[in-house]
Amino acid sequence: MHIIKSRHDLVTHLLSIRKQGKNVTIGFVPTMGALHSGHASLIDESVSENTITVCSIFVNPTQFGDKSDLEKYPKPIEKDIEILIKHKCDILFLPEFEEVYSAQYVHQKFEIGELESKIEGASRPGHFQGVCNVVSQLFEIVTPDCAYFGQKDYQQTAIIKSLIKLTGSNITLKIVPIKRESNGLAMSSRNIRLSDKGRKNAAFIYKALRDIQAEVETRSLVELVNRAKQFISSQKGVDLDYLLAVDAETLNEVTSIKETGSIIILVAVTYEGVRLIDNIFLN
Ligand code: PAF
Repeated sequence: MHIIKSRHDLVTHLLSIRKQGKNVTIGFVPTMGALHSGHASLIDESVSENTITVCSIFVNPTQFGDKSDLEKYPKPIEKDIEILIKHKCDILFLPEFEEVYSAQYVHQKFEIGELESKIEGASRPGHFQGVCNVVSQLFEIVTPDCAYFGQKDYQQTAIIKSLIKLTGSNITLKIVPIKRESNGLAMSSRNIRLSDKGRKNAAFIYKALRDIQAEVETRSLVELVNRAKQFISSQKGVDLDYLLAVDAETLNEVTSIKETGSIIILVAVTYEGVRLIDNIFLN
């Protein structure tokens, strides 16, 4: 695996690979590191579908409102490199801040509409603009044919879909299903900040989602959502931010499964001081 730190070197390297033939495709997996099996599944999918897979590791400061969250973000780079080699990633792009945001870079405002300020965006103002700024820069550098994002950050995938449309690029967005720990907890780089006991207990999040899914055909969606909220709030040390049933396309709230074709339940909690998000499709 090549480890490339400079923007210029990566662009030059990828240009020479593109010159090898018309059928060369570049798959791209943007990450902030602290890789786990969820990221590995994105890499596997990209490797199986493309000539070259590029993974970036860059902890993007512009998407963190809470600076202590940024400071605490884990950076196990040696372990990350091992995982990438094991999963046959071709190139790791490991830039410093200035390689992504040049001195001339002006932070842009992307017109992604209300998607940016609702649900996760309401709790993390500016977060999705930060994501759009870094992803648009990374897309410009890597020029991928396909970009791979995890379903766990569902609202982020909807934002990236809008970003791709907005910038008129023809990148294909691939959304890869959530990988879970054996107790159902969605894999996340943040999980390593939980205590062993907390990591075990945090299974209540997926249980709440599964309980809604199990009865959605026979009980009212509003009732099931309220029950799940109560269940989560009754867990010790949990702060429930939101649990919502939304249309999977628009992310507008829905109150009945008859209202729309595809419904997803989105949930965010703070547990042991760690923000955890998850989701599940109902139909
Ligand atoms: O999902 C993430 O890890 C980040 O938001 C991303 C897409 C790498 C942008 O920094």
